[in-house]
Amino acid sequence: MNMDTPHWWQTAVIYQIYPRSFQDSNGDGVGDLRGIIRRLPHLVELGVDALWLSPISPSPMADFGYDVSDYTGVDPLFGDMADFDALVEAAHAANLRVILDFVPNHSSDRHPWFIESRASRDSPRRDWYIWRDPAPDGGPPNNWLSVFGGGAWDFDAATGQYYYHAFLAAQPDLNWRNPQVRAALYEAMRFWLRRGVDGFRIDVIWHLIKDDQFRDNPPNPDFKPGDPPYHALIPLYTADRDEAHEVIAEMRDAIKSFPEALLIGEIYLPVERLVAYYGRDLAGLHLPFNFSLIGAPWRAAALKKMVDEYEAALPKGGWPNWVLGNHDKPRIASRIGRAQARNAAILLLTLRGTPTLYYGEEIGMTQVEIAPEQARDPCARSGSGRDGCRTPMPWDGGPHAGFSDAEPWLPLAPDFKQENVANQRDDATSIYRLYRRLTALRRQSKALSIGAYRPVAATGDVFVFLREFDGERIAVALNLGAEATAVSFRFGGLTGRILVSSMGDRDGEPVDGDIDLRPNEGVVIACAV
Ligand code: GLC
Repeated sequence: MNMDTPHWWQTAVIYQIYPRSFQDSNGDGVGDLRGIIRRLPHLVELGVDALWLSPISPSPMADFGYDVSDYTGVDPLFGDMADFDALVEAAHAANLRVILDFVPNHSSDRHPWFIESRASRDSPRRDWYIWRDPAPDGGPPNNWLSVFGGGAWDFDAATGQYYYHAFLAAQPDLNWRNPQVRAALYEAMRFWLRRGVDGFRIDVIWHLIKDDQFRDNPPNPDFKPGDPPYHALIPLYTADRDEAHEVIAEMRDAIKSFPEALLIGEIYLPVERLVAYYGRDLAGLHLPFNFSLIGAPWRAAALKKMVDEYEAALPKGGWPNWVLGNHDKPRIASRIGRAQARNAAILLLTLRGTPTLYYGEEIGMTQVEIAPEQARDPCARSGSGRDGCRTPMPWDGGPHAGFSDAEPWLPLAPDFKQENVANQRDDATSIYRLYRRLTALRRQSKALSIGAYRPVAATGDVFVFLREFDGERIAVALNLGAEATAVSFRFGGLTGRILVSSMGDRDGEPVDGDIDLRPNEGVVIACAV
């Protein structure tokens, strides 16, 4: 990749919207497309460049849209195609790109393709899904497990075979070995690209291809009682198969008439396996999501090691990316605390590569406690519910936090009267204002947007690194601990000035040699070079 003319997505900041929880416009307590249009000015003010919408296609909502029953439609809950077109138009007019979630690994069991497939063994679409005869004892064909718990095979009594579902039984896996399946899904991608969409986030892409011999997965020797049941086996034959890379290259090729379209892949794998998804000669995904910050131990040495290992593992020309959270994971501000969430913001927006923010991170939103009777996520039944990170965006301190005129589908954060966008907008020291200063700085600074990453040190609680481009050098120093500390710059002293400080009260302060950091404080420094 040529850094003189980077692709739009290399310098972009991406913002994930969970449509159900962003803004309701029709008073049903669930967010919708018109609501998102209304809130586009927020994204402009925040300084992001692209929005990614979690699924908006027709769905029975067994997994809140990740069970698609029509790949080229809009669910009436969110609006209609005219609303979608209006959203794309308004976003583009505001210089915001639009990225859709695409869920090709499985459809809903209500998708007409699956209804046809299960109708009979002779159905022309039988092979569009993964059907197998029972084992000799009548049980499932092998030991494969569902990520959401229980077996991955469901028996269809009418036709006497089992079908495979990596997630819910209501989410049968499509058979990606069938060329007609591939063609149909590529055509769906082109449908959206023709409507002006700028790219896709592709759901569970490392699951697309499963073993053609249906071999049993081996037991996981590290499995301990109490771990999620899915972890009892190593998913050797059900995920991350080498053949997936050929399919992804083919997918990329299928949309090559849209050369600026971005493909991001959702992939939870160790870094050395993850980077294979850039593909041979970078013919795979532009951005295999890098989730390593989501679970990283929040200590200087561990973070530095993680960043250094990721940077070292990237293929030549492969563009990095960073993520703090999403609709499946506990919110970062709950995991590491509100004070450290500011350092997380600095990391996300100053490391090398494309950052993706999850809605609410910009105000330091925390997990919301969900009582069992309020739970909506199907995973809640197994105790691993994801509702707590999917609650409505608190816009202001008014009724229903400005999210809706009606009772929202999930409870609001109990502290929404204080912690909301409107309050933080007025407070120069808020995390929201920090995010805005960081996105603005990133836009101005080539060192931050496209420059090199240079590790410096992880000493005690302090993590220091540099970003450099031509004559510009930026230093980032983060105090990950709760004690004040002095940072001495071992690389020959440092002079310059603070561009951004995490607490919003040191911007512009000159730096000469060492710098004192308060508890939990992070700074971004323009170095005199
Ligand atoms: C992805 C989605 C998650 C969904 C699962 C099954 O991991 O992010 O929300 O439940 O795929 O589609």
